[in-house]
Amino acid sequence: MMMRACFYERTGPAADVLRLGEVEKPEAGDGEVLVRVMVSGLNPTDVKRRGGVRGEMPFSRIIPHFDGAGTVVAVGAGVPAFRIGERVWIWEGQLRRPCGTAAEFVAVPASRALKLPDDISFETGASIGVPAMTAARALRLGGPLEGETVFVTGGAGMVGNAAIRLAKHAGARVITTVSSPEKATLAETAGADTVVNYKTEDVAEAVLSATGGAGVRHMVDVDLAAHLPEAWRYLKPNASIASYGTQSGTEPRFPFGKYMYKNIAIFGVAVFDIPEDEKPVLAETVEAALKAGRLDLPVDRIVPLPETAAAHEHQESGRALGKILIRID
Ligand SMILES: NC(=O)c1ccc[n+]([C@@H]2O[C@H](COP(=O)([O-])OP(=O)(O)OC[C@H]3O[C@@H](n4cnc5c(N)ncnc54)[C@H](OP(=O)(O)O)[C@@H]3O)[C@@H](O)[C@H]2O)c1
Repeated sequence: MMMRACFYERTGPAADVLRLGEVEKPEAGDGEVLVRVMVSGLNPTDVKRRGGVRGEMPFSRIIPHFDGAGTVVAVGAGVPAFRIGERVWIWEGQLRRPCGTAAEFVAVPASRALKLPDDISFETGASIGVPAMTAARALRLGGPLEGETVFVTGGAGMVGNAAIRLAKHAGARVITTVSSPEKATLAETAGADTVVNYKTEDVAEAVLSATGGAGVRHMVDVDLAAHLPEAWRYLKPNASIASYGTQSGTEPRFPFGKYMYKNIAIFGVAVFDIPEDEKPVLAETVEAALKAGRLDLPVDRIVPLPETAAAHEHQESGRALGKILIRID
């Protein structure tokens, strides 16, 4: 049996390497479910891998995209048959395997296809895997956050936006940064209490002013090299930073003494390498927020499968205001 899929057999620019074609339909292996994909979710990691940033291709042909949503149509050995017909959200769909969600069908470990509440759309389900799991880990590293103030940089980005939503769901107060009025709206809609335009305002002054001079307990960060020189000013003693990116530079320079004497911890976050025994805990946190209707990330656009290359280019442009999703008709 064959299926339609988008795939690449060498890395390079999206328009050069992404192809649409018929490939063999996967089967559910032991412990796996086969999902009819309805929506595939795009993340920066998908375009970086396709572009060759992550090095050699680990497989001769790759169907990209880690995130997605759809309906279980078959189960492998060891998976209960009642799962057939279940609406699911997929996370880590292409982790260490060649076939992701940019296809009519994908086979994934049963634990990577979790029940989507009836009132939550496939679009939302396909949006949350990488962003919400990253945000959940970054927040958990800050310890119990109820009643605390969390600072989320880049609150209009998808990880940042998920972090605002999860932090609010956990009972925290959230301060965030954006670079434009349009992005401020995305952050406000997510529930941020204070939104700072980091292009036009002094971030340290704004965070201190929003906290009555006390500073914040935890920071979820998109760009460590950009923020380390100043962050000690607005972090409380014994505070923490969990950073999942450092696009301004891979070797940040910062005044270590300022951090050391305030007992501030700096954590790195790499979503695919979170300890395996912690992943289900984080997935439960994500599910709880999903059920509560708190994780409907903004959508920039939904395009059909043949337009996947254009979707990758839009992701690379940095102009997206929300998730870029692929509809699999
Ligand atoms: N380590 C991990 O496990 C992990 C997991 C997920 C994502 N990531 C990486 O994290 C980055 C963001 O992912 P995403 O899905 O959230 O991407 P996204 O939706 O494209 O959002 C990125 C956001 O970061 C903002 N930003 C960039 N530099 C900033 C700065 N110095 N201060 C404040 N905001 C800043 C951007 O807005 P402006 O440019 O307008 O400010 C944009 O809103 C990507 O590089 C991705 O590969 C890493």
